Amino acid sequence: MCPGGVAAPARWGAATRWRRPVVVPSPARYAVSSPPRLPARTGRRQETTERLVDKGAACEHLSMHPSSPASTPLRSARDRFAPEGVFLNTATYGLPPAEATEAVVALERDRAAGRLDPAAFDTIVARGRRAFARLIGVPDQRVAIGPQASHFVGLVAASLPSGAEVVVADGDFTSLLFPFLVAERRGVRVRSVPLERIVEEVTPATSLVAVSAVQSADGRIAPVEDLITATSGNGARLLLDVTQSAGWLPLPAERVDLLVCSGYKWLLGPRGTAFLAGTEEALASLVPFAAGWFAGAQVWESIYGLPLRLATDARRLDLSPAWASWAGHVPALELLAELGEAAVGAHNRALADRFRASLGLEPAGSAIVSVEADPGAVDRLADAGVHAAARAGRVRFSFHLYNDETDVERAVKVLTDR
Ligand SMILES: Cc1ncc(COP(=O)(O)O)c(C=O)c1O
Repeated sequence: MCPGGVAAPARWGAATRWRRPVVVPSPARYAVSSPPRLPARTGRRQETTERLVDKGAACEHLSMHPSSPASTPLRSARDRFAPEGVFLNTATYGLPPAEATEAVVALERDRAAGRLDPAAFDTIVARGRRAFARLIGVPDQRVAIGPQASHFVGLVAASLPSGAEVVVADGDFTSLLFPFLVAERRGVRVRSVPLERIVEEVTPATSLVAVSAVQSADGRIAPVEDLITATSGNGARLLLDVTQSAGWLPLPAERVDLLVCSGYKWLLGPRGTAFLAGTEEALASLVPFAAGWFAGAQVWESIYGLPLRLATDARRLDLSPAWASWAGHVPALELLAELGEAAVGAHNRALADRFRASLGLEPAGSAIVSVEADPGAVDRLADAGVHAAARAGRVRFSFHLYNDETDVERAVKVLTDR
């Protein structure tokens, strides 16, 4: 490592150097810097800004909401959401819990009044990072924060040497594809294969497999365990995009080399939050090309001048936070982390498979269901108050914690009443 946590240039010289040794990475502890230290401030401004998300803390709602019997946290959490009609479109964007909406409104009020304290966002972002880390099961120190999935995919693509082969899935979401296609102009090679064959397409010539854990277009689930085995056995790395799976599909995240996630769908955030997580070894292979003040070892001592002094953990890959996005996301993330992916996933999959069964389809275990329907189906659904999306020539329904059996029945009725 160079000072500031940037990998030494020799590492990037040849495609073979980027590839990892053909072994499962050692479980050695990640080189952790102490958690971001906050300047000691006690004034009213910081208190005011922190309370934006404090008052929305999920645990408070789970234990204190009047209709929250401890045995039914998911049912109780559903009271925090207020969709109009039947919202079956989380694969497009998720709904905020009430406390998240309150946090964004309160933030804008504070900003209008000149009451914001930028340093308070260190705590807010740290809480968001911690909640995401807890949700997927990795240490906080291995999570970087940014605005969009494509930014982090871009970092991975830009860190690949010329000649590297990237295997992707046909029809995957373009935020995961375009950065590698852009890298083709400097000699990176992209090979697109059917998702069903992606495991067998990994060869010793492969540097990276980049795939969504769940396909945006139709909800198909990637064979993650087999991909971990195939990539590590061939000296390649695995980059998973969990934008369509985080929050409901438990994955062995601690064994995935690199993982990106946009926050505005199943994680229920506003637009403008995203995460990158990874193993110590894979994160160290990324160059923080877009580093700014927020990636500094001590954030508030990193705002002016030389030298480069980046954090030594995943924070060195952070981008400075869009304040309103983080204020509006943290309550939702903490709610999801408290509920856990297993409980939310069981609920979502049960609804999705019930929906499939009503339409005569086999269970698929995915919270996203794509069905063939006539071209007017999405409009007909919308007229009946059912929100779904037209994707890839079909209709896509997605089921999340705020949905229940009556939503399934309403959607089935509109689709089958002709
Ligand atoms: C798999 C996947 N990744 C990423 C995104 C969003 O990407 P970004 O955060 O770059 O806007 C989507 C949006 O539909 C998606 O389905």
